[in-house]
Amino acid sequence: MRLAFFGDLVGKAGRTAYINALPEMRERLKADLVVVNGENAAGGFGITEDIFGKLRDAGTDVVTLGNHAWDQREALVFIEREPSLLRPANFPAGTPGRGAGLFTASNGKQVLVMNVMGRVMMDPLDDPFAAVERELSACPLGEACDAVIIDMHAEVTSEKMAMGHFADSRASLVVGTHTHVPTSDHHILPGGTAYMSDAGMCGSYDSVIGMDKEEPLKRFLTKVPKNRFTPAEGPVTISGVLVETDDATGLARRIAPIRTGGQLEPTWPDF
Ligand SMILES: [Fe+2]
Ligand SMILES: [Fe+2]
Repeated sequence: MRLAFFGDLVGKAGRTAYINALPEMRERLKADLVVVNGENAAGGFGITEDIFGKLRDAGTDVVTLGNHAWDQREALVFIEREPSLLRPANFPAGTPGRGAGLFTASNGKQVLVMNVMGRVMMDPLDDPFAAVERELSACPLGEACDAVIIDMHAEVTSEKMAMGHFADSRASLVVGTHTHVPTSDHHILPGGTAYMSDAGMCGSYDSVIGMDKEEPLKRFLTKVPKNRFTPAEGPVTISGVLVETDDATGLARRIAPIRTGGQLEPTWPDF
């Protein structure tokens, strides 16, 4: 099975480039399931129902979130009727929505997708490892599902790598989001789980993590916030990762990064 994951869509430029490119990319990648992180899709902050619908219509199976999940308040409401919109599973009990779900890929196979958030240099949440443990034991790879994708939304690579090893042999892919910069450490862990510390963003890299450079620079230089952060409008690099799994085990056979358009050196899976 072939699983495609794309990193945080940043603002109108990021989401429009992704929406326009996805139908053809999905075909070229022969992806059976597509997941994208949508926490910054609406003006850089959160997601609206309208945007979520457009991401789905373009061929996205599952949209994950992160610390910006509720920046658009309407998400608190419509997430309840959208099983394919996931917020971090380790948000406190009683938080609207779900952190994991079982989805049918286009080849008919069942894929468990989950979203968790790290706690290092981020909001103090419930233990992400305990949340992953709960979901993995409820839906074991190879028994209750054919593939498992974990979006580990976290700031630091140490916590992401630890999650990779924690889920190794029990997930098809553990991929990081949130830092908006793709890492070059995509590989298959000893137990057969594909891993990449950060998928990178779908946005303009002529920016500070997707935002127009001017305001973040001013804040670093003077510590005085002046204007709002606005998403950069420049040419968009679409960033993500493709994993091919073994049909018998659900574990990874191959992993390769995807980068197309915009500022970053392009790369495309050769399988
Ligand atoms: Fe993000
Ligand atoms: Fe984030």
